[in-house]
Amino acid sequence: MSAAKSDRIRAGFINGNRPRMLREFVVSALLVAGLCFASSVANGQGKPVDAEGHQWWQHAVFYEIYPRSFADSNNDGIGDLNGIESKLDYLKQLGVDAIWITPCYPSPQVDFGYDVSDYENIDPMYGTLTAFGHLAKAAKRHHIRIIMDLVLNHTSDQHPWFLDSKSSRTSAHRDWYIWRDGKDDGQPPNNWISGFGGSAWKFDPTTGQFYYHYFAAAQPDLNWRNPAVEKAMFDVTRFWYKHGVSGFRLDAVDLLFEDPNLRDNPVLEGKNELGDPKTQEIYNDKLPANHDVLRRLRSVADQSDAVLVGETYTDSAAELKEYYGAHNDEIQLPMDFMFCQIDKLSAPDFRKQIAIAESTGGWPTYVISNHDMERSYVRYGDGKHNDQIAKLMAALYLTLRGTPIMYYGEEIGMENNDPTRKEDVKDPMGVTGWPGYKGRDGERTPMQWNDAPNAGFTQGTPWLPVPPSYKTHNVASESKDPESILDFYKRLLALRHRDRALLDGDYVALNQDDPNVLSYLRRYKKEAVLVALNMSGNVQQVSFDLAQQGFPSAKGKTLLTTLSVPPKPGVPGQISLEPFSVYVARVSK
Ligand code: GLC
Repeated sequence: MSAAKSDRIRAGFINGNRPRMLREFVVSALLVAGLCFASSVANGQGKPVDAEGHQWWQHAVFYEIYPRSFADSNNDGIGDLNGIESKLDYLKQLGVDAIWITPCYPSPQVDFGYDVSDYENIDPMYGTLTAFGHLAKAAKRHHIRIIMDLVLNHTSDQHPWFLDSKSSRTSAHRDWYIWRDGKDDGQPPNNWISGFGGSAWKFDPTTGQFYYHYFAAAQPDLNWRNPAVEKAMFDVTRFWYKHGVSGFRLDAVDLLFEDPNLRDNPVLEGKNELGDPKTQEIYNDKLPANHDVLRRLRSVADQSDAVLVGETYTDSAAELKEYYGAHNDEIQLPMDFMFCQIDKLSAPDFRKQIAIAESTGGWPTYVISNHDMERSYVRYGDGKHNDQIAKLMAALYLTLRGTPIMYYGEEIGMENNDPTRKEDVKDPMGVTGWPGYKGRDGERTPMQWNDAPNAGFTQGTPWLPVPPSYKTHNVASESKDPESILDFYKRLLALRHRDRALLDGDYVALNQDDPNVLSYLRRYKKEAVLVALNMSGNVQQVSFDLAQQGFPSAKGKTLLTTLSVPPKPGVPGQISLEPFSVYVARVSK
């Protein structure tokens, strides 16, 4: 794995090197509190969906939709809400239970929606609140929940709150953002670096002060120490709960608070991919106060039986555990990005990371791709067996204990289509990072529906071009092919939905010294599902002795496999696994 490749999936957090010092006392306090943290049943939640006390979001398969790129109903080259609505049948057949729509609120689109100028409306390019209402109703009929993206760390610089804030030092919203004087020599208040490149401070001549922006200058950070900010943002969530939303994905939630004294971050050796000095972000990332806000945000969510999904960049089990809350009263689904930062097929690395996620005592949340990281098809692919590897990765994260969040197009093996010329780059990070870092456009290209021009996404000019692979990797062609990635996903998701062991079973690692094959059991009462994944390009022989796991005379029956000749039903003794193959079997006592 090259350093560049690994940094890339931390897009938005390109400084890397997560902070430790400030957090340490919190970590130890929470470790103690964590002793009473065994149950995965959340506090104050709605009716459980099974005898284990699991909530709806523990059985659901989530699917991320980047609305600009999913389906374009009015042929303006940009996807929209009506487009999403037209694809609900597809999503249901695929096996999706909840869609997370990345920001579709009014926005100048500097960061493609992550710069919100009105939190309680829909950007005209995507539709209207009425269209949202239709989508919500149609989704409900399909038993698909809607999760919105809550950009709570920052707003657009065009948001009325910021326009007022910048208008004078005494404006009503002045203290809603972080304003400070520069140093005597006119330099910014401290050395904090923006995730989008350069200083995280911008001087505003109207009032002669700097404001803080972790991301683009057009995305000023809100001041979460001001209770009015919290109230306004919590009201935004209530507004959407009333509109039928079942939860939020919390954007950049690590970054809500900053050190009140604005101390300089320690500088590390070297430069990041955007050419800035590397720093250790101990004073503006993962501050303890985040957790107080999360607990209060969670209690609002609980009143609507809603789920909070976290964009949580963590470096250790302890950090991940913190996000669940000491009493399981913060984020229900903190995404485990450590899992997808393993960007090579390595059975030992995945085994280790699954153990880390399991060790938190919380309900794991796995993702393998999203709109900020290179597509998994490319990241794990070896260039020759990419389709097999895509199935292998699906079989991995869709059979683990926890909630998976898919990324649109992953199920058909979409690949990146990175820009080749700077003038084509749309993502502000790509503009700054060019040519070393080409930005995130490549993983955000239009959904490939069929082999018509622009992959059937639009009859207009798509905002980003589709890669040539759309001719073979598209929904229409793959729907007809029983060997396709799409067909495999459908079978896998159907199995996951009906199999108790996959839904509720515990996770038991098997053959822990095997360097090539990742195997585990999902055990539920008298039954279990055995999963064996050959992560190597060679044939591997594996055998299983399941006596220790409570299945001394286990009989295996294949449930799903990519092996050309599945093993005969019987004891899962010696099994020969072809390169990158998947073997999933039921074992019973
Ligand atoms: C999150 C989003 C990313 C965005 C950033 C700023 O990391 O996933 O796309 O650029 O926040 O809002």
